[in-house]
Amino acid sequence: MSVNRGLQSAPHSRNNADDAQAAIIQNVGLEEHNARRLKRGHDPDRYDGVARLFHWVFASGIIYASIAGYALAQLSSGPERDFLSRLNMSIATVLIVLFPLRVCWKFVRIEPRALPDVSEVQLALAHRVHILIYITMFAVLASGFLMVPNGYSFFGLVEIHTPFVKGALIDKLFVIHRASCALLAGLVLLHVLAVVKHQLIARNDVLRRML
Ligand code: HEM
Ligand code: HEM
Repeated sequence: MSVNRGLQSAPHSRNNADDAQAAIIQNVGLEEHNARRLKRGHDPDRYDGVARLFHWVFASGIIYASIAGYALAQLSSGPERDFLSRLNMSIATVLIVLFPLRVCWKFVRIEPRALPDVSEVQLALAHRVHILIYITMFAVLASGFLMVPNGYSFFGLVEIHTPFVKGALIDKLFVIHRASCALLAGLVLLHVLAVVKHQLIARNDVLRRML
């Protein structure tokens, strides 16, 4: 009986030892990777180049798509509206492709050091707002794509197929698109106001972290 238990537990404990060894190798690998990046002149007080590039590509795309989206809502149908709508969808499609890459990069990148003189509460709040921005961006991009019936042309180059035809589901997705666009606009406004406050009032040069 005890022999059996011994036999049963042997592979289990080997697994534990293997897991622990794998974790150590992974940690050592990560530390080496971080050390190599620091040697290459990575500034610990700024986001890395890839994160900064993603940030500004998305910031410009989202600010443009929001302004164009609300302008479209005021325009009556006609060739100008169709052109602007196609341009808007094409630009947003670039963001759909980049979004999973940005999320993956967020998981592997080295976060910059926290801003000095900022309370734990404010840091936690900023972190939550950033996460909420990611979730809302996902909702805006997914609902925008899924609510287009019968596909659309990507910059006049390729025809993109979408899964649904006109109907109740598309109407619901449009409601989700509208709501998530409004939420994203509100969060971005809050985010930009926080940056301005830190830059001009607290004077902690937060903007440099993203430039
Ligand atoms: C002109 C407008 C903008 C300015 C001046 C700006 C500035 C900044 C700065 C300085 C940071 C670093 C904050 C810190 O380290 O605590 C940051 C981070 C961030 N910003 Fe913006 N931002 C702008 C627009 C946007 C827009 C439109 C979005 C939404 C898509 C956005 C999403 C984020 C996110 C998610 C982060 C966290 C870092 C990351 O995960 O990439 N920002 N921004
Ligand atoms: C970058 C993220 C996006 C933003 C910020 C955005 C923003 C907006 C806004 C503000 C509106 C007006 C909503 C209203 O009437 O209240 C709108 C409408 C619309 N959006 Fe988006 N959107 C985005 C992504 C997408 C995507 C990925 C697609 C499809 C591929 C899309 C397709 C549409 C369509 C078809 C409309 C209705 C107006 C039209 O005919 O173009 N959007 N969007």
